[in-house]
Amino acid sequence: MSSNYPPVLPGLPLLGNALEFRRDPQALFQRGYDKYGPIFTIKLGRKPAVVLVGPENGRFFFEQTDKSLSMREVYKFLIPMFGEDIFFASGPDTYREQRNIMLPAFAGKKMPGYVRVMVRETENWLDSLGDQGRFDLVSTFEKLTMYIAAGAFLGEDFRQRLGDEFALLYRQLGEGIEYLLPTNLPIPRFKRRDRAKAQLEKMIGKIIAERLANPGSYEDFLQSFLDATYSDGSKPPERVITSLVLGMVFAGHETTAGHASWGLVQLLQHPDYLEGVIAEIDENLPEGSEIDLDLTRNLEKLEWALKETERMRPVAGLLMRYNAEDYELGGYHVPQGWLTVYAIGLSHRLDEIYTLPDVYDPNRFGPERQEHRAHPNSLAGFGGGRHKCLGMNFAYVEMTVIFSLLLQRYHLELVDPMPTADPTANTSRPRRPCWVSYKPR
Ligand code: HEM
Repeated sequence: MSSNYPPVLPGLPLLGNALEFRRDPQALFQRGYDKYGPIFTIKLGRKPAVVLVGPENGRFFFEQTDKSLSMREVYKFLIPMFGEDIFFASGPDTYREQRNIMLPAFAGKKMPGYVRVMVRETENWLDSLGDQGRFDLVSTFEKLTMYIAAGAFLGEDFRQRLGDEFALLYRQLGEGIEYLLPTNLPIPRFKRRDRAKAQLEKMIGKIIAERLANPGSYEDFLQSFLDATYSDGSKPPERVITSLVLGMVFAGHETTAGHASWGLVQLLQHPDYLEGVIAEIDENLPEGSEIDLDLTRNLEKLEWALKETERMRPVAGLLMRYNAEDYELGGYHVPQGWLTVYAIGLSHRLDEIYTLPDVYDPNRFGPERQEHRAHPNSLAGFGGGRHKCLGMNFAYVEMTVIFSLLLQRYHLELVDPMPTADPTANTSRPRRPCWVSYKPR
C-alpha cells in the first residue's frame, strides 16, 4: 500500500478551498487539473476531498459499491425533508429494496401514460400564453415540470385537485435544504419546512387511503409503488412510499427545469442549429398531429442539442461520496474518512474526449462522430454505474415534448442574449429573471 497522498491544492488557512468550491467549483477544479493532473486534493474546511477528473477516473468512481464510496453521509441533508430511510440517505440494504420498488415505475410500458401527462400539461401552459409576450424561463419551467411530476407521479386527479397547493408546499420543503447549519434549529425556514412536510405527508396519505379503499387502474408512480413488494413479500410501509414519492419529485423536477432552461438558452443562442431542429419538428409533427412516444424518438437534432446541454451545462457539475474505505488510484493512496468528488463538468470539457470542447456543437453526437462513445463515462450528466439516474429517459422525453410543442407554436428570443448562471442555486440554472419573448411563428 502506498502512503503517497494526492497533491493538495493550496487554499486559505482553516477554510482551505471551501469558499471557491462553493462559488465556482469548475474554476477550482480547472486550477487543480492544470497544476496536478486528473487526481488531486482540495480541502473543504479541514476535510480533505480527492477530486477525480476524466472518464477513466469516472469509471472508478461509478464502479465502487456504497460500502466503499458511500452516498449516505453526503446526502444526509435530505433526511429532514424525506425522513431517515429515504433512498439516497439510507444504507445499502434499504437502498437495494427501495430501488427494486422504484424500477417498475420506469418501465418502458409506463412511458406512453407519462407522455400523455407531459403533453397535456405543456399544452395547458401554452394555451395560457396568448399571442405574444414574455416569460421567465426558469420559474416557468419549474412550474411546468412540477405539474408534470405531480400528474405523472401522483395521478391526474391529484394534479387537478391539489396541484397548486402541492407546488407551494413542495417549494417550502425544498427551501429547507441546508448543508452547513444544524437542521433542527428553530428558525422560520426550518419550521416552514417541517410544517410543509407534515402537510404533504397528509395529502399523500389521503390519496393512498382512497386508492386502497377503491382500487382502480392508475398509471402513475404512486400506484407502481403501492403494487410493489419487498424481497420477503411484505409491503413497503406507507411512510416509505410517501417519502419515495416526495424524493422522486425532488430528484426529478428542479433538475429537469435547469437542464431544459439551459437547453432553450443554448438553442436560442444558436439560430442556425435551431432552424434545423424546427424543420425536424415540422416534418415529424405537422400541425394537429398528436405527440406520442415514437414521434419523440424521431427528433434526433433536438436530442443532440439536449445532449450538448448535458455536456456543457450539466445540472450536477460534480458528484460526491464519502470514503467508507481506503483505496488506491493512479499511484496514490486515498484514506478512509476523506471525501471523493467526480468533476463531471470539467471532465466534459477535456479536449482528448471532445473536439473543441468549449464550442456548442450538437452534431458531435450525430452518427458520424459519436464523440461521447469514445469512453463509457464521457457523458455523465445523469451520473453513472449503480446510481445512474433512473429518470434519465423520463427527463429526455419530457424535455422533447416541451420543446416540440413550444417551438411548433412560437418564434422565441432571449431578451438578454447572454444569461449567466445563478450562483445561489443548488443545481445549475440561469439566473432569474431570464426573459424569453415570444410571438406566433
Ligand atoms: C435533467 C434531469 C435530471 C438530471 C440532470 C438528473 C441527474 C441525476 C444524477 C446526476 C443522479 C446521480 C446522483 C449521484 O450519483 O449521486 C441522479 C440519480 C437519480 N435520479 Fe435523476 N436527474 C434528472 C431527472 C430525474 C427524473 C425526472 C427522475 C424521476 C422521474 C429522476 C430520478 C432519479 C433517481 C431515483 C436517482 C437515484 C438513482 C440511484 O441512486 O439508484 N431523475 N439523477
